[in-house]
Amino acid sequence: MKVPVDLLIVNVGQLLTLAGPNEWPRTGSSLRELGLIRDGAIAAADGVIVAAGPAASVLDEVVLAPDGARLDAGGNVVLPGFVDPHTHLIHAGSRADEFVLRLGGATYQQIAERGGGIVSTMRATREASEDDLVALGRMRLDRMLAHGTTTVEAKSGYGLALDDELKMLRAIHRLTAAHEVDVIPTFLGAHALPPEHRGDPDAYVRRVVEEMIPAVVDEDLAEFCDVFCEAGAFTPDQSRTVLTAGAEAGLEPKIHADELSDLGGARLAAEVGAVSADHLLYASDEGLSAMAATGTMAVLLPGTALFLGLPYARARRMIELGVAIALATDFNPGTSPTYSMPMVIALGCIGMRLDPAEAIAAATINAAHAIRVAEEVGSLEVGKAADAVILDLTDYRELPMAFGTNPVRTVIKRGRVVG
Ligand code: NIG
Ligand code: FE
Repeated sequence: MKVPVDLLIVNVGQLLTLAGPNEWPRTGSSLRELGLIRDGAIAAADGVIVAAGPAASVLDEVVLAPDGARLDAGGNVVLPGFVDPHTHLIHAGSRADEFVLRLGGATYQQIAERGGGIVSTMRATREASEDDLVALGRMRLDRMLAHGTTTVEAKSGYGLALDDELKMLRAIHRLTAAHEVDVIPTFLGAHALPPEHRGDPDAYVRRVVEEMIPAVVDEDLAEFCDVFCEAGAFTPDQSRTVLTAGAEAGLEPKIHADELSDLGGARLAAEVGAVSADHLLYASDEGLSAMAATGTMAVLLPGTALFLGLPYARARRMIELGVAIALATDFNPGTSPTYSMPMVIALGCIGMRLDPAEAIAAATINAAHAIRVAEEVGSLEVGKAADAVILDLTDYRELPMAFGTNPVRTVIKRGRVVG
C-alpha cells in the first residue's frame, strides 16, 4: 500500500538532501557531502517528510491525496530551507548617519565611544513598544522568508535594562507563534554597557546575572545566553561571569568572540563549553584548536566583514583544524543589515574561499546544529520538517554566483508553500 501524502515536489534536477550522519555538526571533508540526487522528489504529510530521494523510488512509495499539492520544480535545485543561526532581528531606529560617518573614515569603535553604535539602537528600541517591535520583526521575517530562511535565531540586547530586554524577548515569542518562520530566542543582556552604568561595568554585569537571567528563565523566554566579548564591551572575565551564570540557569552559552580584536574569546568559548563562538575574525590558532577539541562551533558572519571593511574570518584554517563552521547573516542595523542567506553563502565562497557545497552545508545542517534544532530541520530526511527551498538555478554551484540577486523561487515551510 502506498503512503498518502499532501505534498509532492517532483522534477527536481538536483535534490540536495544533506542526508546524514547528522548527529554531530559536519567537520572536514563531510562538509562537502550534500547527498545530491539527480532527478529527485520529496513527499510530505502534515508538514513532515515521508520520502526524499530518486523520483522513481519516491513515486513508488507514496500517493498524493486528492487535495494535496503537487509542485513541479522545473528541473531546478531543491535544498533544505536555510537556517540563520545569528541575528539581531528585533530593534528599532536607523543607523544611516553612522554608515555615512564610517564611509568618511570613522571606525565602528570610534562611533560607539561617542555614544553611537549599539547604544544608539538601544535608545530607539527602548522607545518602541512591544507591538512596534513585533510589527518590525514581522516585516523582516517576511523578507528573510523570501530569501529562503525558514528558521532563524534572534537575540535581545538592545534593551540593556530588565524591562526592555524582556520586551524584546516577548516580541520574539509573539513572532514565532504568529509567523511561518521559526524563531529561536537568545538573551544578550551583555551586548553593551548602557549609559546609566557608565564607569561601573561590574555593576551592570551583576544586574545581568542577578536580575535579568533569573527573570528571563522564569518566563522561559530564551534558549541561549550570549555576550559581546570585546574591548569597549565586556572583558573575558565579565563574559565568563555572565555565561557561567546563564549556563547554571539553563541557558546554553554563545559568544560574540574576537570580532574586532583577539581578546581570547575563542578560548573562552571552549572553556565554558559554548555551543558556538561567533564572528572570530581575529581568532588565534590556539583559540580555534581549543574550539575543535571541545566541539564548539564557529558561526561565521561574512556580511559583517564586508560591511565594516574588515578581513574575513579564516574559514579554511578552521576547517583544517577540525572546527565545525556555520554561516549566518548577523542581521543588525550597525554591522550587517542583510536579510539574505544566499548573499552570505556568496560571501562565504568569495570572501572566505568556501566551496559552494561547504557553504550550503554551513547554512543548513550545521546552522541547525548551532542553535540545537538539527533533529528537526537542516536536512531533507524522513521524519524531519518539510522545510525546503526551490531555487531558480539548475546547478547548486551557481548559488554563490548569484550575489546581490535572490535566486530563491519557492519556499516551503512545514509542507506548505509560503513564499
Ligand atoms: O554582531 N558585535 C556586536 N553585535 C553586533 C553589532 C550590533 C550593532 O552594531 O548594533 C554584531 O556585529
Ligand atoms: Fe551579532
